[in-house]
Amino acid sequence: MTDQTFPPGFVWGVAASSYQIEGAVDEGGRGPSIWDTFSHTPGAVANGDTGDVACDHYHRWAEDLDLMVDLGIASYRFSVAWPRVMPDGRTVNQAGMDFYRRLVDGLLDRGIRPLMTLYHWDLPQSLDVGDAGGWLSREVPERFVDYALALGKELGDRVPAVTTLNEPWCSAFLGYASGEHAPGRTENAMAFRAAHHLNLAHGRAVTALRSVLAPNVDLSVALNLHQVQAGSDRPEDLAAAEHVDLIANRIFLDPMFGGGYSEELRATTEGLTDWSFVRPGDEAEIGVPLDSVGVNFYNPSRVTGVAGSLPFPGTDRAFGAVTPGPRTVMGWPIVPSSFTDLLLRVQRDVGLPIQVMENGLGNRDVVEGGEVHDQDRIDYLRAHLEAVLEARGRGADVRGYYVWTLLDNFEWAWGYDKRFGLIHVDFADQRRTLKDSARWYAEVIERNGL
Ligand code: FCB
Repeated sequence: MTDQTFPPGFVWGVAASSYQIEGAVDEGGRGPSIWDTFSHTPGAVANGDTGDVACDHYHRWAEDLDLMVDLGIASYRFSVAWPRVMPDGRTVNQAGMDFYRRLVDGLLDRGIRPLMTLYHWDLPQSLDVGDAGGWLSREVPERFVDYALALGKELGDRVPAVTTLNEPWCSAFLGYASGEHAPGRTENAMAFRAAHHLNLAHGRAVTALRSVLAPNVDLSVALNLHQVQAGSDRPEDLAAAEHVDLIANRIFLDPMFGGGYSEELRATTEGLTDWSFVRPGDEAEIGVPLDSVGVNFYNPSRVTGVAGSLPFPGTDRAFGAVTPGPRTVMGWPIVPSSFTDLLLRVQRDVGLPIQVMENGLGNRDVVEGGEVHDQDRIDYLRAHLEAVLEARGRGADVRGYYVWTLLDNFEWAWGYDKRFGLIHVDFADQRRTLKDSARWYAEVIERNGL
């Protein structure tokens, strides 16, 4: 058995995002985001749920920060709602800035380290105009730089760590190819274009932020890399796994850390995209140095080259295959050893300090006599922390771990049906109830180990 203790200074955190918890969608001058539009589109989200109220965190943030203190949380990864601080995507709304200033100061007052994510999917609706809007447009990376700079100037003196994008794969491929996420587009070619513009926004924002932030501010990106497994050893399945690794992982890793899009990526996407949206100089702008890399992980992805099941988002050359073994109520396979493999791969390919910026379990937790017995979540978290220890023991420089998430919240296309929180939220009266997993996590933090 590996040593069950984490190194001194290992960062124990929780993660959340603006649209999933804040509510107050038309307060304080906030403008609409693509997720407001999407969640109000009939059929887009389970049960017609929206983020209109969510956890009402916009009003209850102080109480929620106190809960973090009770658990001993050392760092909170939150995201800024771009349409709250720039309602039209362009002009600063001071009331929105003031909300995040209060939040950050509230964290610092409580001794909790803020990790600020700039973009967790809530693009201002006014930037998603017509057929070429949103991340299809080259204008959006420019607006993103203005937004990053405005935040850097406003909060840069008090935020020690900034992540540019959360899971750009989801923004590009679920937003523009599968249509499961806002803005709900369904053309494979669009997803590649969107991915490039997200990459460009990331690189340019990092450069801009370096010019206004203190040199010790940690800049990163949070990637949901796919630990891809072939459905079998048949050549068509192995080829499908290779294809998916290129279009889902290396499409981000290569330009951000490797000097540009690879020849293999260009070859494997023939007929899917012609890459004509990549202009000279773009790749150099994307590949600027970072201080650390964020890895979000829930489950591996198994694929086959044999048509029959759902195509993998963005392509017609790989399809979903069933991973054997246990799965969560979301249907997500539980394979902690694949997390170790992924962390080792990131260490090898990226070579920067790693922060696990999201990991957690979705369930249908119920309150019974004032308690929530979520042993499944405890088992999942424990197994994945063991996987982190295993990866660390084999050389992966993992320095922190953020549970997704503090509070049950608006789980995107699943609405409120699936609960990921350490803390149960009753959405009828906003009552917060600590689950068993919250108490367990507090003990892990306390002893800095399992
Ligand atoms: C990730 C998202 C996060 C949350 C978890 C369950 O893909 O970044 O917002 O929805 O999944």
